[in-house]
Amino acid sequence: MLRFPYNGNRVKTFYIETFGCQMNAHDSEKVVGTLVGQGYNQVETPEEAELVFYNTCSIRDKAEQKVFHRLQQFKRDGKGKTFAVLGCVAQQEGEKIFEKAPHVSLVCGSASYNKLPELLVQLESGNRRVTGLSLDTHDTFETPITRRDNPHRAYITIIEGCDKSCAYCVVPFTRGPERSRTSASVIAETLELVRSGYSEIQLLGQNVNSYRDPSPAGWDFAALLDNVGRVPGIRRVRFTTSHPRDFVKGIIDAIETNPTLCNHVHLPVQSGSSRILEAMQRLYTREEYLRRIEWMKASSRPIAISTDIIVGFPGETEADLEATLALLEEVEYDSIFSFKYSRRPNTAALELGDHISEEEKTRRLAIVQEKQRAIQIRRNAAWVGTVEECMVEGFNKATGQWIGRTSQNKLLNFLRPGGDEDLLGSYVDVRVTRAGPNSLAGEAVN
Ligand code: 5AD
Ligand code: SF4
Repeated sequence: MLRFPYNGNRVKTFYIETFGCQMNAHDSEKVVGTLVGQGYNQVETPEEAELVFYNTCSIRDKAEQKVFHRLQQFKRDGKGKTFAVLGCVAQQEGEKIFEKAPHVSLVCGSASYNKLPELLVQLESGNRRVTGLSLDTHDTFETPITRRDNPHRAYITIIEGCDKSCAYCVVPFTRGPERSRTSASVIAETLELVRSGYSEIQLLGQNVNSYRDPSPAGWDFAALLDNVGRVPGIRRVRFTTSHPRDFVKGIIDAIETNPTLCNHVHLPVQSGSSRILEAMQRLYTREEYLRRIEWMKASSRPIAISTDIIVGFPGETEADLEATLALLEEVEYDSIFSFKYSRRPNTAALELGDHISEEEKTRRLAIVQEKQRAIQIRRNAAWVGTVEECMVEGFNKATGQWIGRTSQNKLLNFLRPGGDEDLLGSYVDVRVTRAGPNSLAGEAVN
């Protein structure tokens, strides 16, 4: 007897909830495409669904506890439903998930998503516990259908996994080894996206700039970036996340010569202290990092620079923190994401001494964020009076403002007096009239 009524003529329904980075969000878009291709129908709430998918993140904090808490919530009105855990917590916890949450039937990490159709068949034929947990793969997850959530900006994963071994990071254990897609398949996907109306592409990868074309064409990241930007119909190309070690001058040269490549580079530094960078096994020094920043600053394009910072890594002294603060001041980042170091399973940093107390990490984070806030107020003020092209992403009913994004990835909220047409997805020139720490405001000029 089959456990699920899946073999009838009735359409099978699923709900998916996603946590984590853009890679995870885009994985979910591909998982949805895969399920739709298998004849499943997506619904908006877990209550309506027969199958509930939960795509999880384990990068920081008490991610695992949060996942089990949410799984418990799902269970409450989950009679007769099937539960599936995907993503980084699935990979990290593996079959332990079945012990802690016995109502879960499927556990699958991102390196095994190609096996999802097969795993679903196993579920449909009555298997209570199915897993996709192998990290030993050369495959990337490419789907004939991708159900894209954002109607204006399309994501393309060009490289999966990570071959680095930063001492704090769980990703090499959750996403497996680096695998790049062929340049031909990336270009084909870009062409298809233009055909379906997209003009902005964001290339994704854990280390996006470590891209290496596995086909004989042999493109490096800069070549791929340049060529994606040359696909007719493409107006904007972004990419994230870059690793400083693999950040070559060719990337800046491509931006310099190709107007569709956006004026923005996200280059996570993590710490301004070479001593901590070494303990983190980041494979570059403060000076080597700053050389990359110099290339950007020497460019004729006004390239916005953003970064990630971790405070309170084991052994971080007051002097190391000062080095990070001085780096913020020297680079003058347009924005940063800053985090308190958190212990992650399997990682090398667990073995280090001198773990910093939670209170001290909180104090250091506040200092970093306060410093950066002052820098952003200063930097954003310099845009007042300029005219910036915005891609319109939304409309704020409460304020009557359109929500635009500049090439530099800054939010620019603007009014368009007299105009009542729908601007969503279009490009509008906006004069900046005001600036705050996190956004700009202005008025359309066309
Ligand atoms: N603790 C704190 N922050 C972390 N990050 C990654 N792992 C950890 C960790 N264990 C941060 C890094 C990375 C970003 C995605 O998350 O800054 O660049
Ligand atoms: Fe989170 Fe990293 Fe996994 Fe993305 S890859 S979901 S950030 S742990």
